[in-house]
Amino acid sequence: MGKRPSVVAHRGASEVSPEHTLAAYRRAVEAGADGLECDVRLTADGHLVCVHDRRIDRTSNGRGVLSTMRLEELDSFDWGSWKTPWADLDDEAELPDPDLLKVLTLERLLETVRDAGRPLELAIETKHPTRYAGLVERRLIEMLDRFGWAHPKIGSESPVRVMSFSWLSLRRMRVMAPGLRTVLLMDRVPLRFRDGSLPTGVSYAGPSLEIVTAHPEFVDRAHKHGHQVHVWTVNTEQDVLHCADIGVDAIISDRPELALNTLAAP
Ligand code: G3P
Ligand code: CA
Repeated sequence: MGKRPSVVAHRGASEVSPEHTLAAYRRAVEAGADGLECDVRLTADGHLVCVHDRRIDRTSNGRGVLSTMRLEELDSFDWGSWKTPWADLDDEAELPDPDLLKVLTLERLLETVRDAGRPLELAIETKHPTRYAGLVERRLIEMLDRFGWAHPKIGSESPVRVMSFSWLSLRRMRVMAPGLRTVLLMDRVPLRFRDGSLPTGVSYAGPSLEIVTAHPEFVDRAHKHGHQVHVWTVNTEQDVLHCADIGVDAIISDRPELALNTLAAP
């Protein structure tokens, strides 16, 4: 095994904590994750929030389509109980801090990364970017600029990389912020990129675990073209070891603690 892959917590430590909440991200940082992953969506009043689904029904006690709601409304819902119903906790259990279980703005997550006290990577995925004709990307770049992370100075590197299944979205961001690293997510590899090359302007390949399980040679091919390979979503010891064996650069996992322990085992 060469250099160990970095471990990126998918939606936070989302196997044990409610995804995309500060509770899940804190837990991932405490477990020693090298990085955090999040999905971003735009609210009706123009805020970027970390939520995976188009609707809020699965991960909150509210109902409806996120893009039709204002941040204040989203903030009124409970984003934690769906995962760990408070009523089910036994008397000894420490009650979760409700402040850690609110809808999470991207701004607050960026502050968490900035204030972590150690270097942390942040992989931000734009969801359905094509629907808003570039608005998500513009807002994202504006927000990153507030932290100095969209246009890193020469000699410094932004902790952020942006990911998307949409090459168009990545291209838009590259035009606005040429120094920003980008990851093209793939649930299948188009024929023209099976040699490990990527569209112009894309920094890294982001294949699914299924792709690198069926085609482990894809990793070497991407490396020969100078691209790192970041694989999602890697949740078992066996798959973590497979990814490490074939030289994957980053694994994205719901179980960062398990991934780190597996990689650290002799
Ligand atoms: O990290 C990439 C992965 O998150 C893509 O799938 O559906 O979990 O956003 P999804
Ligand atoms: Ca994602």
